[in-house]
Amino acid sequence: MSPTFYHILHVSSLIVLLGYTFYAFAAPAESRKKVLMITGIMSLLMLVSGIGLLHKLQLGFPGWAIVKLVCWLGLSAVAGIAYKRRAQADTIMIGALVLAIVAVTMVYLKPF
Ligand code: HEM
Repeated sequence: MSPTFYHILHVSSLIVLLGYTFYAFAAPAESRKKVLMITGIMSLLMLVSGIGLLHKLQLGFPGWAIVKLVCWLGLSAVAGIAYKRRAQADTIMIGALVLAIVAVTMVYLKPF
């Protein structure tokens, strides 16, 4: 499959992952199973497409990709935490945004 396919998959799953992650902060408790299933699948697709891109673009495994991996790990956990810690929603939401922004910054700056 072409790098373009992986790019589209990577960014599309990011959009869905972020959407449902923020929905989790306001969603009714009954939606937990469905939302965690969707965010779980999207997060897996992000990882697969990210690794696919590293491979297709022959980038190796640079430092910025490790930073992205850490951001991905944190972001993947947020939806589950969102249902349990509604009282700290503001702080966790800012944390999630910071993780996403750091990951995007890594792609465009590739500082290391
Ligand atoms: C929070 C997690 C992540 C976010 C927000 C994110 C976001 C993005 C965005 C916006 C792009 C640019 C796509 C484009 O220009 O078409 C991208 C590209 C890329 N991402 Fe991710 N990503 C994340 C996680 C990962 C992970 C876990 C990996 C691999 C371990 C990864 C590897 C890549 C690679 C290799 C590219 C292509 C870089 C290039 O075109 O030079 N990403 N990512």
